[in-house]
Parts: sequence; C-alpha cells; structure tokens
Amino acid sequence: MRTLDSAGNGNPEFTRRLLGTPAAFVGSCFATPGRLGLREVRPSSGSTNVASMSDAMHEVSGQLGFVADHMPIVSAIGKRFVAEQPFAGMTMAVRIHVEPKTGVLIRALRDGGAHVIAMGNKGTTVDAVAALLRSEDIEVLGERSDDVATIATHLNTLAAARPEIVLDNGAELIERLVSTGDHPRGATEETTSGALTLRGRLAGHVPFPVIVINDSPLKAIVENKHGVGQSVIETICLATNVLLGRRRLVVLGYGWCGRGIALYGKAAGADVVIVEPDAVKALEAAIDGFAVSPLERELGRGDVFVTATGQTGVITADQIAAMKNNVLLANAGHFDDEIDVVGVRNAAEDVSARGTDVRRYTLPGGKTIDLIAEGQMVNLAVGGSRGNSIEIMDLGFALQALSLERLVLEPGSLRLGDQAVPADIDEFVARAMVAEMMR
Ligand SMILES: NC(=O)c1ccc[n+]([C@@H]2O[C@H](COP(=O)([O-])OP(=O)(O)OC[C@H]3O[C@@H](n4cnc5c(N)ncnc54)[C@H](O)[C@@H]3O)[C@@H](O)[C@H]2O)c1
Repeated sequence: MRTLDSAGNGNPEFTRRLLGTPAAFVGSCFATPGRLGLREVRPSSGSTNVASMSDAMHEVSGQLGFVADHMPIVSAIGKRFVAEQPFAGMTMAVRIHVEPKTGVLIRALRDGGAHVIAMGNKGTTVDAVAALLRSEDIEVLGERSDDVATIATHLNTLAAARPEIVLDNGAELIERLVSTGDHPRGATEETTSGALTLRGRLAGHVPFPVIVINDSPLKAIVENKHGVGQSVIETICLATNVLLGRRRLVVLGYGWCGRGIALYGKAAGADVVIVEPDAVKALEAAIDGFAVSPLERELGRGDVFVTATGQTGVITADQIAAMKNNVLLANAGHFDDEIDVVGVRNAAEDVSARGTDVRRYTLPGGKTIDLIAEGQMVNLAVGGSRGNSIEIMDLGFALQALSLERLVLEPGSLRLGDQAVPADIDEFVARAMVAEMMR
C-alpha cells in the first residue's frame, strides 16, 4: 500500500470529482422541499412513552426525516451513494450509538450498497430506531437494556461476520479483528478513547488502514468542543432541572470536550473551575478566564462535577466521600469508569432513585451524592437527551462517510495503521459547512 504524501494530504481532485464544489454540493441539499415546519418528535429513551413499538417506530421514522432534512451534507452524500454504490456487495460493521442521527448515517451507508450490521454502545441504543432500521434491511444487534455480557456477545457476532469495512467507536471491534486475523480492508475510528488504544497497545499491530475521525481538527473544534459542550450542559439541566447560575461547576479535563463543557457551563451562569494535570492546557484554561484548581481543593467546594478525560477512576470513591452534601456528579467521557461508580455503590448504605436519571447514594455518616445516568456518557445516556445537535453530527458523519468511501476506492492513498482524516476531505467538509451556515 502507498502511504500518504509528506503533507498528509490525500487527493483533493478525488473529492472534487466525487462531490463537486462545496457550495454547489450544499446548494443541492436544499432542493428537498419541506425541510422546515416539521414537528420534531422526541422519542423516548427506548419505548417508554409510547403505547407500542410500532407507534414508537412511526414516531422515530418522522424524526429521522426531520434529522435528514437538517443534515444537508450527509444527505447529499447519501444521494450520491445511491447512484455510485461505492460499497456494493460489502459487509460493513458499524459500531455506533444507535439513535436518530446515526440512523441517517447508517441509511446513507446502506444506500451506498453496503450490507450494514450495526450495534450500539452500552445504554445508548434507542430501541425504536433499531427496530425501524431492522425493518429497512439493516441488521442491528442489541437493545438499550443490554448488559456488559450481552454487548460482548454482540461484539463477537459482529466480528464473526468478517466485515470488509468497519466503523468503530472505541476500537474494541478493531482490536478483536486484529486478534482473530479476519482483517477488514480498512476501518474508521470515531473516538479519542479508541485512538488511545490504537496508539497504545495496538500500535504497530494493525495491518489495515484506520482513519481516526477524532483526529480531524474539524471534529475537535465543532463536535467535541461545541457539540459536546452544549449537549452535556443541556442534559445535566434536563436530568435534574437545576439552575446552574452561581453553582460551582468543576470540570475535570480541559481537552476538547472539557473546553466546551466549561464554555457552555459559563454561558449557563455557573462558576466554572477546571481540574487539569497538563500544564499547557491548565494555562490555556486560565487564560480563557477559568479558575484552575487541583481536585483535592475542590472536593469540599464544588456543587457539580463533570469528568471529560478519557481516563479511568479520575474521581475515586474516597474523593466522593470528601465532597459536600448533595453534589451532582456526571461523566461526559466515553467509558463509564471515569467516576468510581462501583466503589461508591459498594460504600453506599442506601441507594434511591431521584427521578429517572439520577440516583442518590447515601454514604456512611449520612452524606448524600446524586449521580446522573450512573456515570455513563451523560449526553447520550440520559432519557430524552439527544446528544450533539444535528448540524454538528452532520459534519462528523460526513467525515465518516467520505473516509469510509476513501478506504474502499483509494486504499493505496492510505498507510497501514492509524492516521488522520485525509486533508482534502477535511477541507471539503469544512467548506460545505461554512457554505451551509452562511446560506
Ligand atoms: N460525551 C460525548 O458525546 C463525547 C464526544 C466525544 C468524545 N467523548 C469522550 O470524552 C473524553 C475526552 O475527550 P477529549 O476529546 O476532550 O479528549 P482530550 O484528550 O482532548 O482531553 C482529555 C483531557 O483530560 C485531561 N486529563 C487526563 N487525566 C485527567 C485527570 N485525572 N483529571 C483531570 N483531567 C485529566 C488530559 O490532560 C486532557 O487535557 C474521551 O473519553 C472521549 O472519548 C465524549
């Protein structure tokens, strides 16, 4: 296989040939009538608010239409895929949160000729969306209530299908395919956590190209910062109905997600404090106008703690025991072990529900803490939350769809192992989004 050129560029001509100019491309997306004025349907987190699964499927079907209307870039790519069939005859494994926005991407990949087998992450599948996609010739494994063991079984099923193309979300499937020797033609990896695995224990062991979507500067700026920032703050308010104004909001991690959570938390009126071990990022937080403080100093002062680090056990059970009474805890990181939920559960003398998505843990001595969504990714796991806004996901999914297509049509332009999104794809999608925003 050839490698990328020294500037890391792919082939700009390739993208232009496929898509035309970004402005013309986006313009074509708005030829669809009726993109405004649709009633937005909020599906339940699963099917709890509707009488039956078929009612729920009907509702989310309308919602997928609404989402598609607000995803001009992915919708246009999907239309082109129908004509060009880049994935014809291929099995594509898609490891992604199964919900209305990803449903639009999954349909676009199916429209490109792929036999798609999708599966969600723990606690985030919207069952009605999964059922709807199943009714459209797409295989979807699992449901929202799946436990860890069931998810592992589905992952085995996905790997056993020997997919030729993989869209992964956490690098677990890539790791399995590397170990079984059933190597796909190539893969994309969505997350920071997956990128850490690829560059850590999988470094030098992946004999196929993996495009790390999270490495795109577009995704970091648009999605991790603004998308996650907005939706995490919105979801904490949705789950608790608390006022953030004058609350001390302690954000652990001033990476892309943490920056956004801090920004939108400040916009909601919170007194934001950053906990960040990296000296440069701590400096950036301070210059951006936030207080920077060690966690130990904030334990007795913070009202709301949010983790966004991609690391395990960044708030321990002992640290939680040292917090104020009635603090709120939430995690925005990919895995549900950033907060030591198991340790808190083991230490608690009583556990009680505080609404649908908040659980109160009473610790020895009577102190209580309120944990949102059991430490799972708050902006996806809370019932009724909808994750990043549609337009932001349009950008990330456009990078995904075009990168998957590049793996198939121009594998020789990519090297083995992890690499960034080809620069021409980044540039095209950025121009398309600016054109859409300025329209
Ligand atoms: N909730 C979502 O929708 C969503 C979306 C994208 C990414 N993520 C996840 O969020 C996490 C963070 O992603 P990112 O892109 O911001 O990563 P990042 O690498 O840009 O930032 C992580 C930051 O955490 C800091 N950190 C590490 N250990 C820490 C500790 N013990 N205390 C405080 N800070 C610490 C690091 O120094 C770094 O600055 C990842 O798990 C990622 O997969 C979630």
